[in-house]
Amino acid sequence: MKTIIEPFKIKAVEPIYFTTREERIRILQQAHFNPFLIHARDVIIDLLTDSGTSAMSSEQWAGIMRGDESYAGSDSFFRFETSVRNITGMPYIIPTHQGRAAEKILFSITGGKGKYFISNTLFDTTRANIEFSGAEGVDLLCDEGKQPALVAPFKGNMNVTALEQFIREKGAENIPLVIITVTNNSGGGQPVSMANVKAVREICDRYGVRLFIDACRFAENCYFIRKREAGYENRTILSIAQELFSYADGCTMSAKKDAFANIGGFLAMRDEQLAMECRNLLIITEGFPTYGGLAGRDLEAIAIGLEEVLHEDYLQYRIRSIEYIGEKLDAAGVPYIKPTGGHAVYLDAKAFLPHIPPHEYPGQALCGALYVEGGVRGVEIGSVMFGKYGPDGALVPAPMELVRLAIPRRVYTQSHIDYVAEVIVEVFNRRNNIKGYKITYETPLLRHFIAHFEQL
Ligand code: F0G
Repeated sequence: MKTIIEPFKIKAVEPIYFTTREERIRILQQAHFNPFLIHARDVIIDLLTDSGTSAMSSEQWAGIMRGDESYAGSDSFFRFETSVRNITGMPYIIPTHQGRAAEKILFSITGGKGKYFISNTLFDTTRANIEFSGAEGVDLLCDEGKQPALVAPFKGNMNVTALEQFIREKGAENIPLVIITVTNNSGGGQPVSMANVKAVREICDRYGVRLFIDACRFAENCYFIRKREAGYENRTILSIAQELFSYADGCTMSAKKDAFANIGGFLAMRDEQLAMECRNLLIITEGFPTYGGLAGRDLEAIAIGLEEVLHEDYLQYRIRSIEYIGEKLDAAGVPYIKPTGGHAVYLDAKAFLPHIPPHEYPGQALCGALYVEGGVRGVEIGSVMFGKYGPDGALVPAPMELVRLAIPRRVYTQSHIDYVAEVIVEVFNRRNNIKGYKITYETPLLRHFIAHFEQL
């Protein structure tokens, strides 16, 4: 059969609450035009994030009941550890309450003033944790990754020539880690090829720099490798994942993504000394090393989720459902990052709203329009999230102005997705009426979460 159906049946349902356009106009105003400040109940289809929003399986819920809540040495920890070790091959596995907690620990130990962390693209919390330590984060994405309309198989790859040049320029002693984000969330959810990971590993070996993987969406990345990279078409997702992690010295993970958990994360690594230092900090900030800020039941849900996410039928449905939105957008001529990535569709707000300049935040304006049109909540990934102010106080815009519509795992059906596509196309047809925004309130770090805006 040609139709790829959802590989699950639904056992428990949650209501969606509907609002009228007039109500949504008022709600958006009350939320200062920032989707993060809208009550979830007032959202019809919530594509703000794929993080912590997955539907858990019946097996995971059964695991929740089985969770062993012992303070030290709980059974659930050992199941979690076995599951993570099976995929990553790493000896030291440290649970944390979510991805950024793992980052905070890792960068507190390895970061500091004068240090550089190089990545294909750092996610916003990762960059913020690096900068908070006093170090600098550097994104060296391949050229294809910077061209939204270009179709290429691995637009998340790191620019290895630039990487080597940067290490030579700044000195390997000032570069504690290279970090490859799979898939590249801030750059369109685009995958990284195994060849690129290998090439980065070789450079890291040459200069004695450690390589870590930001593994949030590792399974989606491995599925793309299987589909698009020669030599991997007959391999299981597990064996591709094992190979991917074999090139790394460690990883950070948010279990809220490719582990189908509502909370959780971990650090995994090969270096005993580094693991000891991380555990010391873990005890102060997260908890004892066999629970790290999580309940036993959470560890159980992660252990099971990590096995389920490797199922081929799940990944095929997952990637296909996102590609399907892309096809609908193509038919209407809506600009988005091509090809569609692993967990989201990224609308190209610069091309969508060419009449709104970057300092009037076209991505934020597009988010507002999608909400008013159909109660669809997305997130700006552009100059609100990544813009900086220059010495003259003028905005230094982000390289791209995007709106991410992230699809929660196993949550929405095809008719929900059809509705989302219809809303986007409707907004596109009326794009000339959309106005830019100005910021009226902001904070120095991660301003996108709480900034206030006014419509111009
Ligand atoms: N790294 C990447 C690539 C991420 O996408 C995220 C989270 C994190 C690290 C941090 O993990 O949320 O568990 O602390 N991304 C979410 C998102 C928030 O919406 O993309 P966390």
